[in-house]
Amino acid sequence: MKFWKFSSQALATLLSVVTLAQASGPTDGEAAADPNSAVVKLTTATFKTFLDENPLVLAEFFAPWCGYCKLLGPEFSKAADSLNESHPNIKLAQIDCTEEEQLCLEHGIRGYPTLKLARGSEATEDYDGPREADGIVDYMIKQTLPAVQEAATLIAFNELASHETKPYVVQIGSTSETSEIFEKVAKQFRKDHLFLSADKSFVDGLKKKFSGIKNDFKKPTYLVVHPDNDKEPIVFDEELSLEALSEFIKREVVPLFGDINGDTYMTYMASPLPLAYYFYNTKDQRADVAPLFTKLGKEFRGKINFVGLDASLFGKHAETINMNPEITPLFAIHTTSNDKKYGVNQTEFPEGPSQKVIEKFVRDYFADKLSPIIKSQPLPTEEEIASTPVVQLVAHNHDDVVKDVTKDVFVKYYAPWCGHCKKLAPTWEELAELYDSKNADSQVVIANLDHSSNDVTTPVQIEGYPTLLLYPANGEIDEKTGLRTPIVFSDNRELESLIKFIKEKGAHGVDGHELKSRQVEIEEEDEETLVDKVEEVLEEAKEVEHDEL
Ligand SMILES: *[C@@H]1O[C@H](CO)[C@@H](O)[C@H](O)[C@H]1NC(C)=O
Ligand SMILES: *[C@@H]1O[C@H](CO)[C@@H](O)[C@H](O)[C@H]1NC(C)=O
Repeated sequence: MKFWKFSSQALATLLSVVTLAQASGPTDGEAAADPNSAVVKLTTATFKTFLDENPLVLAEFFAPWCGYCKLLGPEFSKAADSLNESHPNIKLAQIDCTEEEQLCLEHGIRGYPTLKLARGSEATEDYDGPREADGIVDYMIKQTLPAVQEAATLIAFNELASHETKPYVVQIGSTSETSEIFEKVAKQFRKDHLFLSADKSFVDGLKKKFSGIKNDFKKPTYLVVHPDNDKEPIVFDEELSLEALSEFIKREVVPLFGDINGDTYMTYMASPLPLAYYFYNTKDQRADVAPLFTKLGKEFRGKINFVGLDASLFGKHAETINMNPEITPLFAIHTTSNDKKYGVNQTEFPEGPSQKVIEKFVRDYFADKLSPIIKSQPLPTEEEIASTPVVQLVAHNHDDVVKDVTKDVFVKYYAPWCGHCKKLAPTWEELAELYDSKNADSQVVIANLDHSSNDVTTPVQIEGYPTLLLYPANGEIDEKTGLRTPIVFSDNRELESLIKFIKEKGAHGVDGHELKSRQVEIEEEDEETLVDKVEEVLEEAKEVEHDEL
């Protein structure tokens, strides 16, 4: 699940960038709502009481500097004012995380803006609804309706169902016992799906409506209905229990072949299943493959989700699944549970894979016949190796270096765009120099790896950059990866702290301070060598000059 979070963040970022670029109008509103609006400003002191006193609250955790918060601010005010008039029981509130750090920490806020829907202070859920005023208003009003809508007539049933664009869930006939379960499940999913309970009195009408399935609805029946194919709902055919019905719904609300975009990616994110992507350039291309994916979707229901992705909008997402965004259509499968990526070879199929190729690829995937695509930079050249005292890792050599159990191996996992990583770089070089890291005799290896360009599986999840992991010599072996279980460095990233960490946590207990003082002595003794070295460098410089001539 954690890996998924990683890639879903990548997708979320992508999608929101597109949305931002497409959004019209000014993008420089104020993040904090207009003080004259109906938005309530909450603080640590008022937060809990406010939530307990108001039955339904949408709370926005924000930071004044955040771009998306500025985009949302004016819309949030507008929605709050409109609700204050029509539904005064629904409150919109804001928490400024730069002022209420502790409160935001307690609520696990990791990005801005984060929206939470609260029905009392004990029951908060993530809000992933619309972010413009009208959408927020509609969404919030829906939340005040009972979790289950009762329909007493076919007309009432059709009226309620007719507004749905998302799959909805139907109960036909019920006992008090089954109703209770249905109600509980409805409360879990009410945020996203309509739950309709139909009276048995119009069962004949329902039989006609759902003519694609043969069912007499004699027993209490549960259906997931996809509005675009509502003659043929999916029937729940297991023993009724809260868990079983809830799993059924989670599985069946996902379309057999849907599109992934800003509106749907949360649904796919909530699913633990692998995701199979078809990147298309035109609507026709998508239409061509839709029957195939619908067929495969049926066959592999509950094992994988098939999605289309509009490459003209979100094509760059290909990079996060190790495919080339320049060559589309493409087909790839992402096993989110272990972050492995598989794709149809783009060199072989520059015009996109045929349906036959895709189908075979899917079958090979389930027969465990495919190898994942490992993203790796090339091994460093001699020149690159010589350019730094740090041992440079890429996906191809990461495991070899990290598996050397005779050494304390300390790895910095970084990304080129990360500011903290850049700041740490000179310290990391100093550290590598101190332990003479590249020397075969050194007991401590100081290494680094650009994690954005190299797929490696580590026993500890890398969730932010830089992540510093020390694999102690002869450490305990992690079964899943075959690597030693590393110790995470979480102190301040000063040279002194790093040296101390290596001495205390490394199996060899090498004392960097001792090395340091010895180094100074050696440097004083070895003046001649130093002179030699200078000469060597001068010679090299001359050669370079010649080369250039
Ligand atoms: C909210 O509605 C009440 C009642 O209509 C009104 O008195 C109040 O001024 C409104 N608040 C805001 C901030 O618009
Ligand atoms: C893809 O196909 C090309 C051409 O057949 C081949 O050279 C290349 O190694 C293949 N790539 C992978 C990752 O298998």
